[in-house]
Amino acid sequence: MNRKIAFITGATSGFGRATARRFAEAGWALVLTGRRSERLQALEEELASQVPVHVATLDVRDAEAVKTLVAGLPEGFRTIRCLVNNAGLALAPEPAQKVDLQDWHTMIDTNITGLVNVTHALLPTLIETGKGASIVNIGSVAGQWPYPGGHVYGASKAFVQQFTYNLRCDLQGTGVRVTDIAPGLAETEFTLVRTKGNQAASDALYRGTTPLSAEDIAEQIFYVATLPDHININRLEVMPTRQAWSAFNIDRDK
Ligand SMILES: NC(=O)c1ccc[n+]([C@@H]2O[C@H](COP(=O)([O-])OP(=O)(O)OC[C@H]3O[C@@H](n4cnc5c(N)ncnc54)[C@H](OP(=O)(O)O)[C@@H]3O)[C@@H](O)[C@H]2O)c1
Repeated sequence: MNRKIAFITGATSGFGRATARRFAEAGWALVLTGRRSERLQALEEELASQVPVHVATLDVRDAEAVKTLVAGLPEGFRTIRCLVNNAGLALAPEPAQKVDLQDWHTMIDTNITGLVNVTHALLPTLIETGKGASIVNIGSVAGQWPYPGGHVYGASKAFVQQFTYNLRCDLQGTGVRVTDIAPGLAETEFTLVRTKGNQAASDALYRGTTPLSAEDIAEQIFYVATLPDHININRLEVMPTRQAWSAFNIDRDK
C-alpha cells in the first residue's frame, strides 16, 4: 500500500502533536520534527504501532539542518503529500517599547525564516507529488487583527498569510494547494511559552471561557489536506464561539 506522508513541524506539543495523532488515525505515514527529542521519541512510541513514523530533531531556524534532514529522509518517507508548517511562537506580551529585541528576532527567525526554510526544502517533493499535495501554514488571527502586545508576532503571521497567497500564484498548475489556517484563542503551551513559563498567567487566560483545543485545529488541518484535489481553501480563520473583536481604543485626556 502506498501511504500518504505528512511532514509536520513543531510536533512536540499543541497543534502539531494533535495533528500527528489525527493523520495517524487516518493511516498517514509521518515525518515529525521539533527541538525536544524526548517528546518526539514519546510520540514515535505512541504512534509507531499504527503507522510508519520517522522523527527528527530539528530547529526550523537552521536552514542547513532543514536541507540536510530533507535530503536524508529515509526510503518510505520521501514523497511528501502534506507539509504542515506549524512550528512557531509568540514572545513578549508587553508593549513594543518594552520588548527585548532578541524576542523580536526569535519570532521572526522562527515564524518567518523557519517556515520559509522548510517550505523551500520541501517544494520539490510536494511538486513531484502534484495533484492533492498541500502546504498548510499555521498563521493566526493576529496576522489580520491588531491588538496591544501583538507587534512582531502579528506581523510575522501577516507574512504567513501573504506568503501563502503568493505561493498559490507560483504553484498554480502544479496541483499543490496552499492554505493559511488562522486560529484564535486556543489552549496549548503557547501562552506558557509567550510568558516564559508563567503557568498562572497561562491558566488565567483560558479560565472561565471555552478556548479552541489542539484537537479542534488538528481537525481543520486534516480537513483542508484531505479535500478533493480540485479544492483549495486559501485561508481558514477559526475562533472559539466565545471570542470576538472588541471596540477601538481611544486615548482620552485625563
Ligand atoms: N495557541 C494559540 O492560541 C495559537 C493561535 C494562533 C496561532 N498559533 C500558532 O500555532 C502554532 C503552534 O502553536 P501551539 O499553540 O501548538 O503552541 P505550542 O504548544 O507551544 O507548540 C509550538 C510548537 O512549535 C515548536 N517550535 C517552536 N520553535 C521552534 C523551532 N525553532 N524549531 C522547531 N520547532 C519549534 C515547538 O517545539 P519545540 O519546542 O520542541 O521545538 C512546539 O512543538 C504556532 O505557529 C503558533 O504561532 C497558536
